[in-house]
Amino acid sequence: MSQDFIWWKHGAFYQIYPRSFMDSNADGIGDLQGIINRLDYVVELGVDAIWVSPIFASPMLDNGYDVSDYTDIHPMFGDMATFDRLLTAAHDRNLRVVLDYVPNHTSDQHPWYIESRSSHDNPKRDWYLWKDAKPDGGLPNNWEAIFGGSAWQWDEKTQQYYLHTFLKEQPDLNWRNPEVVEAMQDVLRFWLDKGVDGFRIDTVMCCIKHSDFPDNPPINDDSPFKPFGLKLEPVHSMNQPEIHEILRGFRRLFDSYNGERVMIGETWIFELTELVKYYGKNLDELHIPFNFMGTVMPWKVAEIKTNISAYYSVVPEGATRNFVFGSHDVHRLATRFKPENHRSVGMLLLTLWGIPTMYYGDELGMEDADIPLERRHDPWGKEMLDLNVGRDPERTPMQWDASPNAGFSPPGVETWLPIAFNFQKANVAVQQEDQTSTLNFYKSLLKLRREIPALHRGDFSFVEETPTEIMAYVRSAEGERLLVIINFEGTECNLDLSSLGNSGKVLLSSQLAKSDRVVLSELLLKPHESLLIDLT
Ligand code: GLC
Repeated sequence: MSQDFIWWKHGAFYQIYPRSFMDSNADGIGDLQGIINRLDYVVELGVDAIWVSPIFASPMLDNGYDVSDYTDIHPMFGDMATFDRLLTAAHDRNLRVVLDYVPNHTSDQHPWYIESRSSHDNPKRDWYLWKDAKPDGGLPNNWEAIFGGSAWQWDEKTQQYYLHTFLKEQPDLNWRNPEVVEAMQDVLRFWLDKGVDGFRIDTVMCCIKHSDFPDNPPINDDSPFKPFGLKLEPVHSMNQPEIHEILRGFRRLFDSYNGERVMIGETWIFELTELVKYYGKNLDELHIPFNFMGTVMPWKVAEIKTNISAYYSVVPEGATRNFVFGSHDVHRLATRFKPENHRSVGMLLLTLWGIPTMYYGDELGMEDADIPLERRHDPWGKEMLDLNVGRDPERTPMQWDASPNAGFSPPGVETWLPIAFNFQKANVAVQQEDQTSTLNFYKSLLKLRREIPALHRGDFSFVEETPTEIMAYVRSAEGERLLVIINFEGTECNLDLSSLGNSGKVLLSSQLAKSDRVVLSELLLKPHESLLIDLT
């Protein structure tokens, strides 16, 4: 590893969904002690940081994205002492810890909201977004909640509506109120003072709304929100220019801490010129505005190439590129891209120019589970049964071994979500022993990525003279050149890449069996195979 390897600029992130990683107290739900118990696994995998989804006090209607106390731990996960031990244990292993920060909304059980709803003249009334009904008694405007229905909920007691972008139990904070900004900055200070290494800022583009609350127009046919059932384009309820001042304020706070604290944002924005604005004009906002193109892309060479080139062409000089392919909000990689392409997806994610965020269990090829109706938790999935938006299938317990409950909980315990069907093969214990497993493929890839500067910091260029089913690109830095070739189809492919040199050394094949040197004029790729070749 080169000396100037900066963890968030060059490393790999690993998202842990705490309910599902490891249950240490046999209640069927993952917890902080469970994460501590499995930290060595994470370190051996070869990632540089964990991002842990919300662990805070919460009624858990949106699995913790409905926070009722930002500076307390939900007892289901443990307590503050356990969190402190997790932080120390991670830092002892040179692993960074990033937490989730949920600024757009609180839970309706948060004391701030309880005060706010108590009366019109409560000092916290203006901490949330309250509006009168229209003179005809109608809703303040036509905005939709992402989880279904109107974004406005009537409050009988005070005879006004409040805004909720998600569930009605998740009222939106008023970020135009300086007291809210101050109180929420205090939350960041609390955790940064403890030594956490950064935050992933939840649904950041929603935080500020148009000050006049105009109606949203009908949705565009190609809108990324259409598959989620929205009927209106959220042009006035999301991505407003004033968000950038808020982010600059956060950044000043982060920068006032010694060390390298990272600010990541959940920027669900597909218009790339808008997305990159979240870096800030002077790179003074988010270090990493999440790039979600990998969550919606089809497995097609031409489209992926176009999207990647478009992204690289707009990211400003000096900014950190990044890719998110999987998360707790989208279906599993092995399910979306098909199991036979799964390793190539990993090859892509971990060798593109930009830091990768992996989702727990993807390194094993975990697949979506079929969750019976009565065991579903996700409010979105339960509200909108006709759309394939339920997120429980990708949130099932981590698969540690082949025992009943996959080693996540002891046998006999009912886990909070069922174990996915493929746990007997896709589990850590089995795959650790098998040199050709997906887990060992990911481990090799992460190791190479960390060791070779061209892979974690090098330039990027597509190789253009390839057949339509092949994607190839070169990463280069400090005199090294690394070639990545991915066969997107289920047929063998011969190709001639002699324009890049005579021969190369195969560092890794997705099939983990390849002769050492290859002649570039007569490369042979097996169906769905991907290769990492050293051209130096
Ligand atoms: C973010 C989270 C998602 C949550 C939503 C509302 O998009 O990733 O899981 O449901 O915010 O808080």
